[in-house]
Amino acid sequence: MKKVIVTGGAGFIGSHTVVELLAAGYEPVIVDDLRNSEEGVLKGIAAITGRSPRFHRVDCNDRMAFDRVFREEGQVHGVIHFAAYKAVGESVSEPLKYYHNNVGSLTVLLGLMAEHGVKRLVFSSSCTVYGQPEQLPVTESSPDRNANSPYGYTKVVCEQLLRDQCHADPLLQAVLLRYFNPIGAHPSGHIGELPLGVPNNLVPFVTQTAAGIRKQLIVHGADYATRDGSCVRDYIHVVDLARAHVMALDWMAGKVGSVCEVFNLGTGEGNTVLEVVHGFEEATGVKVHHSIGPRRPGDVESVYAETSKSRDVLGWTCTYGLKDALRDAWNWQQRLGA
Ligand code: NAD
Ligand code: WQD
Repeated sequence: MKKVIVTGGAGFIGSHTVVELLAAGYEPVIVDDLRNSEEGVLKGIAAITGRSPRFHRVDCNDRMAFDRVFREEGQVHGVIHFAAYKAVGESVSEPLKYYHNNVGSLTVLLGLMAEHGVKRLVFSSSCTVYGQPEQLPVTESSPDRNANSPYGYTKVVCEQLLRDQCHADPLLQAVLLRYFNPIGAHPSGHIGELPLGVPNNLVPFVTQTAAGIRKQLIVHGADYATRDGSCVRDYIHVVDLARAHVMALDWMAGKVGSVCEVFNLGTGEGNTVLEVVHGFEEATGVKVHHSIGPRRPGDVESVYAETSKSRDVLGWTCTYGLKDALRDAWNWQQRLGA
């Protein structure tokens, strides 16, 4: 079996990817220090798959500990690097924390991969590298250095570091996946997102409002130049996103020599905030109290993906729609309780 180290494998997207790796016959090995996740996630993975992947509670910035993981695991087919901080607002007030963890951990990882002769890497990037694109849908060749937060710039820097490293090491293969807005949860209800405190992201706020944990959702602005005035995003089911990582690994394995390729991962469709709210109500039959508030600083008006490259090259397409994702997010919220 092909062993794949999954940093951040106990997190939201990482845990769903571990499930898909197991289903595809890979042997995932989770490296996560649980700074933004819980050990219970491993039970969720086992409940879905009947398997308990190996788990190392290790900080990816701790070079010695991470090196021991590579030594213990022996031959490794590839690495998927999810481990990072992702809170946009916090990155504005604590940029060092973000550069240290997000860029630092990739630097450590690339050094260890070189030492241990591991040549395949899938990296979690983000549509945030595009900022507000001039043309929609946004393609992989759209300008990509307009991130509007320190978090976003950590992804710009990591992407450049990967291009530079691939240039320096002609045997290194890297796939850079730019996620749009991942939402939802595993349809089984065994794993999902675990937002800490008050969620910043729309869908966890919607589900918590529906569950009565939050009084009401504030729609951040309804005066944009969009269908109904609220912002447009490309919301993608986390299971579809997870499957793309497996397809990226499969694709790389068929390549000889250097690869450094960027792919958008979105549905290709944009939905407004109000469409998400109403879609949730239709999918679940549960009302979401909401009102219109002012714009949120730093928000872009509209962004959604052009997805033909992922489809044509990786053979990847989405199987879930917005309402499926909202139903699964609600199912997960009900498991979490109020
Ligand atoms: P998450 O916080 O749920 O998962 C990240 C995991 O990494 C957590 O389990 C955390 O404990 C772990 N981690 C963080 N730093 C670590 C370190 N130094 N050592 C070991 N473990 C560490 O986040 P997620 O939503 O699953 O995001 C995964 C990746 O996808 C991140 O790189 C994020 O920037 C990127 N991304 C996320 C989104 C999104 O909206 N969720 C969108 C685009 C890109
Ligand atoms: C979506 C829409 C809000 C909460 C963020 C990161 C991005 C990427 C994905 C990591 C916006 C509106 C939200 C609320 C609202 N992450 N909203 N009321 O900002 O598109 O992207 O996550 O890479 O980098 O910036 O996602 O879920 O925060 O917001 O009206 O209470 O919902 O204004 O229009 P965003 P989000």
